[in-house]
Amino acid sequence: MKIFALSDPHFSLGTPEKGMEAFGAIWREHHKTIERHWRAAVGPTDLVLVPGDLSWAMRMEGALPDLHFIGALPGIKVVTRGNHDYWWTSKAKVRAALPESMIAIDGDAIRVGKVAIAGTRLWDLPDVSFAEIIEWMPNPFGKEKAKPTQVEKEQSLGIYRREVGRLKLALAELEKIAADMDAAMRIAITHYPPCSADLQPNELTALFEAHRIRHVVFGHLHAVSPRRSPAPFGERGGVAYHLASCDYTEFRPVLIDEV
Ligand SMILES: [Fe+2]
Ligand SMILES: [Fe+2]
Repeated sequence: MKIFALSDPHFSLGTPEKGMEAFGAIWREHHKTIERHWRAAVGPTDLVLVPGDLSWAMRMEGALPDLHFIGALPGIKVVTRGNHDYWWTSKAKVRAALPESMIAIDGDAIRVGKVAIAGTRLWDLPDVSFAEIIEWMPNPFGKEKAKPTQVEKEQSLGIYRREVGRLKLALAELEKIAADMDAAMRIAITHYPPCSADLQPNELTALFEAHRIRHVVFGHLHAVSPRRSPAPFGERGGVAYHLASCDYTEFRPVLIDEV
């Protein structure tokens, strides 16, 4: 089984008024580009990790065309929630609505063949900026983000702490799953990056190392050039960190391993 990653497709098949073209020509009909590359690379028994920002829709009815589009692509798709997935209400509702070939994880873990996968959304890391690796991107909404106030910073830290708790729960469940398995590969998927681009150690990298995670796959960052040198992220402490945002992977599912 090959293991691929592709994040942040931001599809809008059910909400065409919100197309990603507003963010630049590379996004024009990007669902067709993704489909072409995906079908060329991924077989029906392969695994594809899609850690969030799946659809622009606000409600489940609007997200269904996007979910069925992903569901119809080859492979087993394991997905988690991004900050733009407003249609993702409860995990039970999402699981009931997903096509058969898609599995949702959100603060928990599952097993696919010999692979154990933990997943959660996560949040902005305190005191980590990615400004240096993000290239200019058109802002179709015309408003620059204001600098966060002290109150906003504290709120953000509160969400981050809660999300770390959810990641710990997911990793504890992964341990249980992996204990029952022979030669399990351990993977974590998070929507937000869990470390800085230069892999400075933090409490999350320590957690992944303690749980013997082999790969961490995430997205959320856009407008990072695939030609950037040195490439951001990479490997530290036996854990490989993969930025899989689809504009970074040039709309291709990226092969990360094979079991
Ligand atoms: Fe995104
Ligand atoms: Fe995001």
